[in-house]
Amino acid sequence: MMKLKNDRFLRALLKQPVDVTPVWMMRQAGRYLPEYRATREKAGDFMSLCKNAELACEVTLQPLERFPLDAAILFSDILTIPDAMGLGLYFETGEGPRFKKVINTMADVNALPILDPEKDLGYVMQAVRTIYKELNGRVPLIGFAGSPWTLATYMVEGGSSKDFRKIKAMAYDTPEIVHALLAKLTQSVISYLNGQILAGAQAIQIFDTWGGNLASNAYLEFSLAYMQQIVNGLIKEHEGRTIPIILFTKNGGQWLEAMANTGATALGLDWTCDLGEARLRVGEKIALQGNMDPSVLYANSQAITKEVQRILASYGKGSGHVFNLGHGITPEVNPDNAAVFINAVHELSARYHS
Ligand code: CP3
Repeated sequence: MMKLKNDRFLRALLKQPVDVTPVWMMRQAGRYLPEYRATREKAGDFMSLCKNAELACEVTLQPLERFPLDAAILFSDILTIPDAMGLGLYFETGEGPRFKKVINTMADVNALPILDPEKDLGYVMQAVRTIYKELNGRVPLIGFAGSPWTLATYMVEGGSSKDFRKIKAMAYDTPEIVHALLAKLTQSVISYLNGQILAGAQAIQIFDTWGGNLASNAYLEFSLAYMQQIVNGLIKEHEGRTIPIILFTKNGGQWLEAMANTGATALGLDWTCDLGEARLRVGEKIALQGNMDPSVLYANSQAITKEVQRILASYGKGSGHVFNLGHGITPEVNPDNAAVFINAVHELSARYHS
């Protein structure tokens, strides 16, 4: 087992005492960093960067060279799974992800393979192994996948969507097709994440970016039920350590109790819910991660520091909080402001831990 030099991220997830509140940022390796843009240029396009273990490792470590972050996250994308299932992922500049093939019918679903991580997504496993080795115990490595519902939205819509017209029509019209797709994705996500754990991922985050767009009951049926199966199916312990699972449903504030009942280790919160209230609701059961509005990073240092202070005070004393943004950092943010944010979390949180 690799000894960790900084394990406060894992400790906070397990609600063990910490010296200061740990912090990382969703999308911490990304276009707001000039060194990321340079490496991406070198790789050619985004998928070539994901498929090159050395370069994926390089960009994973870039934010850690700049900032005292408490975790690293695998550089990859949630859409590697549908790509490996044969849908043909590509990125149109300025338009986000697109698929050459889309899912329209039960026959389309039946034709999808169940993935074998080493065989079908070997480049991701290789990236995890390379990053784990290169980190050399500096901080824990987070592995991730999209939730089945979130992946299904891209596979049925053929890319990003504003209204989810096709998949919602399908969910109400022919729910059996959507359930068959979700069941297949769930199998693939479980083996993909277990592959990442065996390759060196020390915590797992499930990105349910679009679950919060569902009707209250439909969320339980189409998103949470499958995330529950994933929680049940993941390796619980590896090399003597618990593998924490973080469930992040963007706009998921109304379902915190149901999410906490899955047996996950932590819930990721976006900025639309109040952290203190969330702690009162589910904090006995589960750790919380979040939840500063990424737009705060467009403001001045004083405003950023004030917002960090407000969120720390809202959670209050004791362990069980991992500081993060409520969603990914955006490409227009000045990296100096990210530094202000991360340093403020460490400096201002010491008094909440004794
Ligand atoms: O957090 C990290 O630093 C790890 C890397 C990571 C990426 N994507 C890199 C990426 C992670 C965890 C993701 C997850 C992801 N990908 C999600 C869920 C999280 C979320 O943000 O809601 C989703 C929905 C996707 C799908 C996806 N990938 C979209 C919609 C886009 C285009 C968005 C945009 O900003 O252009 C991507 C591309 C992508 N994934 C980029 C990065 C750094 C930008 C690609 C580039 O370099 O141009």
